[in-house]
Amino acid sequence: MAGSGMDITSTTRLLAVIGHPIAHSLSPRIHNSAFRAQSLDFVYVAFDVQPSALVTAVEGLRSLGFRGANVTVPHKQHVLKLMDELDPLAARVGAVNTVVNEEGRLLGHNTDVAGFSAALRGVLPQGAAGKRCLVAGAGGAARAVVAALAAEGANTVWVFNRTSARAEELCVAARQWGAALCEPVRTESLLEVGKQADIVINATSVGLDPTVKATPVPVDIFSSRQVVVDLVYGRAATEFVSQARARGAETIDGLDMLLMQAASSYTLWTGVQAPLDIMRSALVGTVN
Ligand code: ATR
Repeated sequence: MAGSGMDITSTTRLLAVIGHPIAHSLSPRIHNSAFRAQSLDFVYVAFDVQPSALVTAVEGLRSLGFRGANVTVPHKQHVLKLMDELDPLAARVGAVNTVVNEEGRLLGHNTDVAGFSAALRGVLPQGAAGKRCLVAGAGGAARAVVAALAAEGANTVWVFNRTSARAEELCVAARQWGAALCEPVRTESLLEVGKQADIVINATSVGLDPTVKATPVPVDIFSSRQVVVDLVYGRAATEFVSQARARGAETIDGLDMLLMQAASSYTLWTGVQAPLDIMRSALVGTVN
């Protein structure tokens, strides 16, 4: 059981993940297993925070002296303005997934960018350099992905989002980040454009609810020459990943990115290199 065997005392340092929904989160399991393995006096818990409670939840972290927090769907962009200071990358991306509390000052970081690049390199050692990429989504997670693709020198980044105005906004920002070519994609041309992509990424929250077998793009986009990345993870493969695999694509599921961004956050809070193998094995048995 996550948390068992830990001696929680009055000096134990506190960490949390805040999001909505949150019950599916594997972050407590990952971080607590690492704290145990490295004998660090920290404990990590999960809080279901509705959007209307975000401001008071963040104030709570500060007043209760939490060492920090992860921030997930749907708060990554809204939490930004609640920080006292922003890491330059988080400021550029416009999204925070990691908060560090330095004696009452809340510092916002974004470890999703490095997490995405590290996960992609597990399959593509050169990363996205020269590749044509389709990103589904335009929220905080998508902004981190597009920033990583721009930094890696992707040839083209297409952004498709249910609310097209957000895709357009993201492309304007991406051009400022140095993306060679970033274009919003309309529903009418999604199939045609998507088939040309070398890398297809789901950065929407579609798939978070495993009972809904939906994908954010038509599955006929997928082919065996693509790498398909889902930022969503679940106890079983998401519909997005299953459909891509069934069409021969190489896939990266959300667990890889979860682990990589978790490792960076861990180091920000503790100053210690994260034990990736321990973190990875903490997930064994939770997913298939
Ligand atoms: P995060 O910051 O974690 O990315 P977010 O800002 O709430 O969270 O973004 C969620 C993304 O998933 C958005 O791109 C959202 O599309 P909208 O901009 O149109 O809201 C997308 N999304 C959520 N539910 C969706 C659904 N049922 N179908 C398609 N896209 C969805």
